[in-house]
Amino acid sequence: MSDNQLDKKSQAWSALFSEPMSELVKRYTSSVFFDKRMWKADIAGSLAHADMLAAQGVIAASDLADIQRGMAQITQEIESGAFEWKLDLEDVHLNIEARLTTLVGDSGKRLHTGRSRNDQVATDVRLWLRDEIDTITPLLKAMQLALVEVAEKNVDTILPGFTHMQVAQPVSFAHHLLAYVEMFARDTERLADVRKRVNQLPLGAAALAGTSYPLDRMRVAQTLGFDGVCQNSLDAVSDRDFALEFASFASITMVHVSRLSEEIVLWMSQNFGFIDLADRYCTGSSIMPQKRNPDVAELARGKSGRVVGHLMGLLTLMKGQPLTYNKDNQEDKEPLFDTVDTVRDTLRIMAEMVAGIIVKKDAMERAALKGYATATDLADYLVKKGLPFRDAHETVAHAVKTAIAQGKDLSELPLATLQGFNAAITDDVFGVLSLHGSLNARNVLGGTAPAQVRAQIVRHKARLG
Ligand code: ARG
Repeated sequence: MSDNQLDKKSQAWSALFSEPMSELVKRYTSSVFFDKRMWKADIAGSLAHADMLAAQGVIAASDLADIQRGMAQITQEIESGAFEWKLDLEDVHLNIEARLTTLVGDSGKRLHTGRSRNDQVATDVRLWLRDEIDTITPLLKAMQLALVEVAEKNVDTILPGFTHMQVAQPVSFAHHLLAYVEMFARDTERLADVRKRVNQLPLGAAALAGTSYPLDRMRVAQTLGFDGVCQNSLDAVSDRDFALEFASFASITMVHVSRLSEEIVLWMSQNFGFIDLADRYCTGSSIMPQKRNPDVAELARGKSGRVVGHLMGLLTLMKGQPLTYNKDNQEDKEPLFDTVDTVRDTLRIMAEMVAGIIVKKDAMERAALKGYATATDLADYLVKKGLPFRDAHETVAHAVKTAIAQGKDLSELPLATLQGFNAAITDDVFGVLSLHGSLNARNVLGGTAPAQVRAQIVRHKARLG
C-alpha cells in the first residue's frame, strides 16, 4: 500500500468506517506534531521488537532485514529533515510505520505483530524519559559543584542569617550555599529512584491483555536496556505514575531553584547589595537607564510555576481514568516534554550563573552587624556563667533595648554598661560578641562554624567526585 492509499484510507482501522474522520476531529485527536520528538525511541523500540519476533520465529529473518533497512532509511530521512510528517497519520507511531511499509512492503506490515500502540507508546515515553533523566542527572551535579566552588571561597564570609526575614544569627555564606547543595543532592537521589521505575518495559502487554504470540519480553528488555519488564499488562498500558514521579521530582527541584533565585534577586537588590551578577545574566530597562535586572533568576523563579502546574495537570489527567488505556493518556506528553525542557534549561543556566556570582563580603558583613545578630551569643555566654537560659534571654533583651536606644551594636557598649545587666560579665565577652566569635562557637555537626563548613566541603567534593 502506498502512502497515498494509507492517507486515503486515513487510518489503519478504516475498513469498518463508512465515512472519513472530520478535519476538526483529525486535528483534535492527532499528536504527531508534538510526539514526533520521540521518534528515536519509537524506532529503537520497533527494532528491538522485530529482532525478538524474528528470534522467536514469528517473522522471517528476511522480514527483520527489511525492517532494519527501512528503519535505517527512515532515521536518515528524519535526521536530514526530509521525512514528511503527516497529520492524517495521527501520531509518531503510525507515521513511521506507514513510511516503513511504503519502503519495504509486507515486512513493514508484519512489524506490528503482537504489539499495540498502547504498549508501544508506553514504551516510547519511558525510553525517551530515561534518556532525558540521564541528561538531567549530570546537570544536578554541575549545579552542586558550582555551589561548592563558590562556598569554598566564602567559608569565612559572614552573611546575616534570617528567620522571618529578620536578622537572626550570623552564618558563613558558604554554609548558606551548602544548604542548597543538600537540597540538590536529595533531588539527585529522588531522580535516581524515579529512573528505576521508569526503566521497566511495557512492550508485550499489547492492547491490554498480553498477546497470544510467543514473545520473549526479557530479550526486548535487554536489547533496550530496561531493568525489567512490567509484570501486569493492564498496568503496563494504563498507568503513567512514572511520569507523575518525574514531574514531582521536577517540581521539588524547581522549588529549590526558585528559592535560590529569590535570594539571588534579593541579594542583588540595592537594599541588600550582597552580590552582583555578571552582565551577561542581566538585562536592562527600556526606560530606566540605570537598571540591571536579574532576569534569569526571576524567570527561573517564574518557571517553577509552570512545572508545578504540569504536575497538577498530570495528576488530574490520571485521576478519573478507568483501566486500561484511554486516549486521555495522549495528554501526558506536552506537560512531560515541557517539564523536561524547563528543568534541563533552568539547571544549565543557573549552574553557570551561580558559578560566576560576585560576592560583596564587606556589605554582607556590615549587614550582619546591624540586627543584633550576636544577641543569642550573649545569652549563651551568661548561661555559661551559671544563669538559667530563660533569665539570660531576658537580660539580653534589656541589653539590646539599651543598645538600640543608644544607636550602638552590643559589642560597642562599654563593659561597665554590660556589667550593669549582669555582674558576671567580664571583658572576654567581646570575643563572644564578634561575628567570627559567634560563628566559631557553633562548632556542632551541621553547624556554621568554619571548621564544620570546611569538613562539609570536603565531604561534598569527595561525594561529587
Ligand atoms: N498517540 C497515542 C498516545 O499518545 C498513541 C496510542 C494510541 N492508542 C490507541 N488505542 N488509540 O497515547
